[in-house]
Amino acid sequence: MGTLHLCRHPLVADALALLRDRDCPPEAFRRQLRRLALVLGQEAAAGLRTTPIEVRTPLAPCRGERLAGRLALVPVLRAGLGLVEGLLDLLPEAEVWHLGLFRDEATLEPVEYYSRLGGSPPPGDAFLLDPMLATGGTAVAAVAALRRWGVERIRFVGVLGAPAGVEALQRHDPGVEIHLAALDPELDERGYILPGLGDAGDRQYRTGS
Ligand code: URA
Repeated sequence: MGTLHLCRHPLVADALALLRDRDCPPEAFRRQLRRLALVLGQEAAAGLRTTPIEVRTPLAPCRGERLAGRLALVPVLRAGLGLVEGLLDLLPEAEVWHLGLFRDEATLEPVEYYSRLGGSPPPGDAFLLDPMLATGGTAVAAVAALRRWGVERIRFVGVLGAPAGVEALQRHDPGVEIHLAALDPELDERGYILPGLGDAGDRQYRTGS
């Protein structure tokens, strides 16, 4: 079963409470998302592999370690964009591959509208970024796209999940590590997480009604 990691860090709790607040304006929402990405990203990166190297300090040679292999951040457009900068602060040499998926409001099924994945050899590690793991449909479609590309190790990094979404992703691909700030109890009839934080894209980009 893909492991679910819920981050108990007080900074995450603090950022999450601000994100949930319906009066949090878009600029503050984006700032808190980035802050949260920094902490969640550190936890998610803890298992990355390193390779030994020789370094020369100004005084003497010594041994060090660098992150091994190519690494990709894959934000799901558009809400996943809000997690990219925080992750890039931690992993400045990561590649960023965008994946466009929207949820058909009638069927709640994901529809892919943008992908450049697959054009070159796959990175060994991918961090799939989407703040909300609601029904799991989008995450399952994104993970399937990454596996078709040949990515070996996938970490899902998000803010909130619902049990249905976590179970769907774990059932689809038990190899994916799931990192979230919290798990909320349920979904509403539109597939939104309750109590959640609303539409994570609209709240970042001031596009809600
Ligand atoms: N997408 C969102 O932005 N919010 C939800 O609650 C579910 C999916």
